Amino acid sequence: MEKSLPSPSHAAYQRRAIPLRRRAILPALAALACFLVIVYGFAFGQGIDFWRAYTRDNLSVEAAAAVARCRSLRAKPGPPSDFAKRTQSDRYVPGTKPILIKNAKIWTGEKNGTEVITADILLDKGVIKGIGQTTRKVLSAFKDDIEVIDAKNAWVTPGIVDLHSHLGDASSPELDGASGDDNSLKGPILPWLRALDGLNTHDDAYALSISGGVTTALVLPGSANAIGGQGFTIKLRKTAERSPSSMLLEPPYQINSSFPDIDGPMRWRQMKHACGENPSRVYGNTRMDNVWAFREAYNKAREIKTAQDAYCTKVEEGRFEDIVQTPFPQDLQWEALVDILRGRVKVQIHCYETVDLDDIVRLSNEFQFPIAAFHHAHEAYLVPGLLKQAYGHPPAVAMFATNARYKREAYRGSEFAPRVLAQHGLKVVMKSDHPVLDSRYLLYEAQQAYLYGLPENLAIAAVTSTPAEIMGMSHRIGFVKEGYDADLVIWDSHPLALGATPIQVFIDGIPQIAEAYVTRKPEAFQRTPEVPNFDDEAKAAVEYEGLPPLEPKKSDAETVVFTNVKSVFTRSGSDVNEVYMAATTEDLRTVVVTNGKITAINEDALHFPANAHVVNLRGGSISPGLTTFGSPLGLVEIDAEDSTNDGLVFDPLVQRVPSIMGGDAALVRAVDGLQFGGRNALLAYRSGVLKAITAPVGARFYAGLSTTFATGALNKLDEDAVIQDVNAVHVTVRHFGSTPSVSTQIGTLRRLLLHPPNGDAGQWFKDVSEGKTTLVVDTDSADIIATLILLKREVEEKSGKKIQLTITGGLEAHLLAKELGEAQIGVIQIQARPFPATWERRRILPGHPLSEESSIQVLLKHNVTVGVGILEAWNARNARFDIGWLAIDAGGDISRAKAMAIGSTNIETLLGGKVGAAVAEDLVATEGGDLLDFGSKVIAVLSPRRESVNLL
Ligand SMILES: *[C@@H]1O[C@H](CO)[C@@H](O)[C@H](O)[C@H]1NC(C)=O
Ligand SMILES: *[C@@H]1O[C@H](CO)[C@@H](O)[C@H](O)[C@H]1NC(C)=O
Ligand SMILES: *[C@@H]1O[C@H](CO)[C@@H](O)[C@H](O)[C@H]1NC(C)=O
Ligand SMILES: *[C@@H]1O[C@H](CO)[C@@H](O)[C@H](O)[C@H]1NC(C)=O
Repeated sequence: MEKSLPSPSHAAYQRRAIPLRRRAILPALAALACFLVIVYGFAFGQGIDFWRAYTRDNLSVEAAAAVARCRSLRAKPGPPSDFAKRTQSDRYVPGTKPILIKNAKIWTGEKNGTEVITADILLDKGVIKGIGQTTRKVLSAFKDDIEVIDAKNAWVTPGIVDLHSHLGDASSPELDGASGDDNSLKGPILPWLRALDGLNTHDDAYALSISGGVTTALVLPGSANAIGGQGFTIKLRKTAERSPSSMLLEPPYQINSSFPDIDGPMRWRQMKHACGENPSRVYGNTRMDNVWAFREAYNKAREIKTAQDAYCTKVEEGRFEDIVQTPFPQDLQWEALVDILRGRVKVQIHCYETVDLDDIVRLSNEFQFPIAAFHHAHEAYLVPGLLKQAYGHPPAVAMFATNARYKREAYRGSEFAPRVLAQHGLKVVMKSDHPVLDSRYLLYEAQQAYLYGLPENLAIAAVTSTPAEIMGMSHRIGFVKEGYDADLVIWDSHPLALGATPIQVFIDGIPQIAEAYVTRKPEAFQRTPEVPNFDDEAKAAVEYEGLPPLEPKKSDAETVVFTNVKSVFTRSGSDVNEVYMAATTEDLRTVVVTNGKITAINEDALHFPANAHVVNLRGGSISPGLTTFGSPLGLVEIDAEDSTNDGLVFDPLVQRVPSIMGGDAALVRAVDGLQFGGRNALLAYRSGVLKAITAPVGARFYAGLSTTFATGALNKLDEDAVIQDVNAVHVTVRHFGSTPSVSTQIGTLRRLLLHPPNGDAGQWFKDVSEGKTTLVVDTDSADIIATLILLKREVEEKSGKKIQLTITGGLEAHLLAKELGEAQIGVIQIQARPFPATWERRRILPGHPLSEESSIQVLLKHNVTVGVGILEAWNARNARFDIGWLAIDAGGDISRAKAMAIGSTNIETLLGGKVGAAVAEDLVATEGGDLLDFGSKVIAVLSPRRESVNLL
């Protein structure tokens, strides 16, 4: 433990440089100046307190420094008192042109996020100079040196603020020895680490996230440690200096000194904590061990604080003789924790479950420090009262919208959590945990929270003003307000409308998007989106502690009649067709369903049997169910819990396969491991995703045979639970590190196709080379895809048959769209919105606003059959938004029917699905819009197979 008296003479010496310049100006007063220099230097270096103490009380230099230091311990962080009067931002880049944004519809963040005004916004010197009507006088003041942008009544919000990001520390594409720079493995308690020290300035995601409107992010250390270290707030734009330090927003004073500079102004610091599974897993701890680690660390900090306070009591009582021989008690390793106990750090805690929240609330009371926010906090909505017992004030809760169930801690997560927490008066933040979720789409999290019931004002605030407040920056960001940082987004639609895309993003008054590509959207997109009523579902989520029953209920009535139907789509072969589309509200129809089958589409709403069950769709729709692929849905229930999962297949390319199962000749079938009734599957079903195609889970090259199953089935023996036993043969060709090499994987594939071995696997690969079975290769790299195109040619030349090959992943496939079209190789892009997570995915086509077309559009243009898929099972439920968003972005290029095909029939065709007769396919009824509309709700499934209708 390092202990030392502050060295005021040293500090004073360092700062003499400033007054010395004055001496040069006043040479005649050199002698007097010399004296002033010393005295003034002390004052400057140690604060006015020191100066007064020194002169008034005639103290020694050491004693006066001690007085000043002790007083500074009580200083609270925040902006300097004259901050609001600033006329220029500390981040202003000289040369930045003033900008006038005319005719903006501004969500200001004021009045609890309810204030929306139409006005002009003047940006200059990195700050918002004015909001209102522009006068000629204002303009003339700038002569012609001002850029005028007509927003044409477009929505403008503050820049998006991400309260939980690993941008730069877990950078993309991942090229850092695979572990990232955000998690230290040096111990559970590491408050001395700083996220700033790992901030990579070459992360591809900065520009991508800016294109989604993100301007500021709090970069936190990872969650491998109970105390992971200090977080730092950055602005995402490039700086002339190109350094990590130059990206910082109000860096705390400690970044280039060892101990607090007692002059202030004191800035908020950020500290990451994590409880529960992550630190436990890394250190082989139990929750009890973790909490003890916290208590031991905080106890140490408390001891130091107590010693400091005792020291300062002596100082304040003027007992300098008692301290003159005693160094001020402090320790570089523990100073940040001591600062927490002094209430000068925003403590950001990754914490999911009730047990963990309870542990930390008690910790906060035991050591008396407030918690800024619980992050993830999948069970927070179940215990709002517990959160309110935290020391000081209730923590905010920073959440994902629908990302849940990936581990025990997240199993009870609910899409209704934001609304429930807000109803209890708790502050709600939506965060990305980038790259866990791509922060480019952080606004989508707010949109979903709004969809499931978080009020509009709080939903926009959840990614702007609320996170700004929680990180202690609401004096300058998170609002559109005079004097605030010129961080703004001009949107192409209402920010809560699905697919809202920035037309321009300003950071410190600097435009960030050189040329924005956006679609002209229908007028309705400018209004607050209508959303369904989920009151009953939200209530059930709490009542059942996150596990409300999800099983569908069969309608008793033989005939179910849907009234006020706006559109009907059905499948025909491998296409989706629009059967009916009402041009106006007067053209809404009545659809009669008997034994699960559409028997009539009537103009006359009264034309149905008297004993029928009637459901008003209020302008809704009937359309084919969607199909999900890409995640292990059906084989995995809780990703991180092996006991809930099928497990991994053996891979003959990297290990010995037991001879009892056939050795190398074995090919595993996903159908043999299927589990039914899982929550991800049932939620998918309730969101209109009626089928899943799942391949066995392999760690490397080998996977096996995929299967198609019904997401709504509860038991494998249910009628139609398994729709197709075997779909296709799946392998993966990727960069797995050193072995097996890509060339080894391709060589193996060539051998399997040209010289199929004996046994089961050989037979399947023989079928592939004869065009009887589809081969699905999971890969993203354009180079690997090109090699596969050549391999396909080679095999076809030898066999004389056309082989059916599908690429899944395919993020770089757009680079070979023409060649893929010619080779008739289809692509299931995973995921719908690309992200360059790894080197072999780095050449993504980003889509709006950065590129005119999306990769899907490029592939479609070249007649490539395209589907979209997902990586994780929780995301299956969002398929309708994935394809709806694609259709919105593509303008008229992708019709609703085509989008539905991209999310259903195309996927099945590409994965060797025996696309059934139209009559046998289940349909989905949605209320208040069609399946692709953000504001619609899936309320029934029509099943001709089961001859019934399920009501949800
Ligand atoms: C301050 O200290 C000086 C030198 O020790 C001494 O001469 C002087 O009397 C003191 N003044 C007061 C006000 O105590
Ligand atoms: C802020 O808005 C929310 C939701 O609209 C409301 O419940 C809450 O009471 C409002 N808070 C204040 C302080 O007006
Ligand atoms: C310390 O860091 C801040 C923030 O980067 C910088 O503005 C300041 O000039 C630095 N101070 C010194 C003495 O290097
Ligand atoms: C795609 O298919 C259409 C219709 O079959 C055809 O007219 C068009 O030329 C094809 N485009 C390309 C790029 O092959």
